[in-house]
Parts: sequence; structure tokens; C-alpha cells
Amino acid sequence: MKEALIGIAGLGTVGKGTLDLLTANKVKIETGLDVSIKVKGLAEADQNKFKGLKSLEDCSLYSDAFELLDDPSINIAVELIGGETVAKSFVKQAVKKKKHVVTANKALLAKHGRELFELARENGVLIKYEASIGGGIPIVKALQEGLAANNITFVAGIINGTTNYILSEMEKRTLSFDSALNEAKELGYAELDPSLDIDGFDTAHKISLLASLAFKKYFVFENIFVRGIRGINLTDVEYAKKFGFRIKLMAFTRPVGKQFEITVEPTLIPSKILIAHVDGAMNAVSVSGDFVGHTLYYGQGAGAFPTASAVASDIMDIIRLSSHKTGNFETDTGQSVEKGSLMVGGGVIAREDIISGHYLRLKVCDEPDLSTKITSIFIEYNVKIERFFQESDSDGSISLVLLTGACALRNINQSLERLGQLKRLKEQPVVLRVETEA
Ligand code: HSE
Repeated sequence: MKEALIGIAGLGTVGKGTLDLLTANKVKIETGLDVSIKVKGLAEADQNKFKGLKSLEDCSLYSDAFELLDDPSINIAVELIGGETVAKSFVKQAVKKKKHVVTANKALLAKHGRELFELARENGVLIKYEASIGGGIPIVKALQEGLAANNITFVAGIINGTTNYILSEMEKRTLSFDSALNEAKELGYAELDPSLDIDGFDTAHKISLLASLAFKKYFVFENIFVRGIRGINLTDVEYAKKFGFRIKLMAFTRPVGKQFEITVEPTLIPSKILIAHVDGAMNAVSVSGDFVGHTLYYGQGAGAFPTASAVASDIMDIIRLSSHKTGNFETDTGQSVEKGSLMVGGGVIAREDIISGHYLRLKVCDEPDLSTKITSIFIEYNVKIERFFQESDSDGSISLVLLTGACALRNINQSLERLGQLKRLKEQPVVLRVETEA
């Protein structure tokens, strides 16, 4: 039987999970491939992480990941170091040494994907990254293969396990934001720097990759609109429920005229639709195509084993493609983006121009004619109020809670600015996006 020699750099949650999977399912994996998979090198800066590993026959241990790349027999380098500095140099060196790369590093690819994929193309190797989006959900494969014949019209997703865990546990157990975050950290879902999760950037890295897969273009990461879940509180979760909605950190991408929407933000979605029931660290990605219609992919979005499942499937894919010589590595580096198709500046539609429904919560002074004044301001800016209730607060003020019809965020912002001039708002209004389909 032929042998594929693997080097794994980074022995954190996913690295360890990958070793466990390759050992536990060795027979299953190799049977289909007719190739024996051997971990030939492991690199980890923290030597303590080598302790307790079951002895890997003939496997070299390195504290420096770059030494692993000096082994010419290793033909697949698995980058699980994370971050954008060492990991980037590691991937570049691996590619230059003609090693295929498997990575779970969404931040790296979202920001430097164009450079890395082009380098891979020049060197005739693949960079595979199924593990970087949605943990174990095979969404890269779905977009690159299963849905390849479609024009993709819409992608919506819950693609960060940590924030979904926090929002669901806040709602289910009336847990505080901080306690829910601590649990997510303990369960191994959160990034080393959890602000990447909470502030929406991890989700943005993933939706940027999904946008490139769906539309075959590179986008400038900085053009993506990102809003995380800080500031979402139980009051809004409860009010959303009264309207029949749940709040989820959603990512969206779709063509809008000649531009593309790529956004990340907490969004009210109807409780009755499937994706609203994706709870805890589970992820879901909904994709619509012109011929296939609506499709939905669901699974564990974070954690050692689901992510390891994706890493291992990429290793298998590379072996399959190389041994059957079906991969045209010159043109298909794993990304299949139109050569040179970088969407600069104008490629991404400004958030203010995106049309959707909105949830508004306004804390105002209790005055007899205020509702009439507010209503006339909304009419002036073409904001239609579809549903409404009000609650008296203990401090004598009133909370007005509204759902608007579809309009651009620009109109909402303009009307709120005018409302501010009335000097009757007691707090900054809460504005959240509302989508009836996802
Ligand atoms: N921190 C990420 C999440 C890990 O919570 O989804 C998986 O990408």
C-alpha cells in the first residue's frame, strides 16, 4: 500500500482531535483510499502538549514548526497553529516546498487567501480549508462540488459556535453574558482571543470565505460590515420573542445588482423557521441557488472532533486527488476563484443601503403627543411601522418597541437622528436587523 506522510503543526484542541481521529478511524479512512496515512512529524511550541500522546511510531517531534517542513518526505502539512503571522509564513514555506496544505485558519485565509492561493497555484499544490468554516459541516465541498452548477443567490449562516452558545444559553437559562462566555471557553469553542467571536470577526472571516466560494471572487476583508453580540441583552431577547422572533448572530452574503452584500450582525429571525432552532455551538448554513432552490447544512460548528473530521476529510481529498491525478492543481488550488478577480472598494454594498426589516427599541419620556410626533417622523423617512407595543418602565419612562417594514438602514438612521433632535430619547435606541427568511 502507498503511504501518505503528514506533518501537523499545532497541538491545540483541533490538533489533538485530528490525531485521535486519524488513530481511531485509521482502517475506515485507509480502506477507501488504498493509501496508508502516517503522521511523520508533529510540531508544537509548548512541549507540555506532547505529554500523554500515545506513542506515534517513527514520528518526529519539533518545537519549531518550520523544522517539520524540512522533512522532504512529508507531503501534506496541516497548519493548526492559528493566527496570521507564524501561520502565514508556515503555509507559504510549505507551499514553496511543494507540500499540500490543510488548514483550519479562517482568519489567515480571509485576510491573505488571495496571496496564498495564488502561491499554491504557482507551485502546483492544494490548500484545503474545510475545517475553517462551520466545524464539521462540509460546506466548502457543498459549494465547490454539490452546488457548483448553480448561480448562488443567497447564503445565510450561523457560523460561530461561541456566540450562538452564548445567545441560546442567555435565552434558555437566563444566564448572564459573562457566564455563558466562560462556559463556551471551557467547552473549547472560543478562539484564543474570544473577542474575535464576540465582536463578530470570526464570523466575518468565515462569511468572507463563503462569499469567495459562492461568487468566485476575492473580497477585501475590511469592506465587510461586522457587528458582534456585545450589547445584546435579555430585554431585547424577550421582546423579540414577543414578536415571534429569535436573535441570532447571522452572516449574510448575496449579489445585489453588480455588488455583493457581505454582512455579520445580530438579527431577528422568525422562531418558526428551521435555522432559528440552531442552538448551542451548532452551526447552520443556508444556501440558495438558481436551479437547486433552498438548501440547509447543519452540524457542530466548533470543538475538537467535528473540526478534526473536516481536517481529516481534506487530507483524504488531497490523497485521492493526487493518487488518481484528477486534480488540476494548476487551476484548482482548492479555492477555484476567477484568476485575478479581486473585488476592491465598490464590490461590497454599504450597510446603510441594505434593505431589511428593523427592530427598534426606544426609551422615551412619557408625554401625551410623543407617539404622534414619532410616527410622523417615520412617515417622513418612508419607514413603515408594522408592529408595535409599549411598556412602562420602573423609572417612569416608556419603552416603545417596533418592527418596521423593509427599508434601507439609511432611512432608519435618518429618522432616529431627527428623533434625537426632539430631545425625548432617554437612551441610545436599539436597532437590530430583521430577516423573515434565512
Ligand atoms: N471560535 C470558533 C467558534 C471556533 O466558536 O465557532 C470554530 O471556528
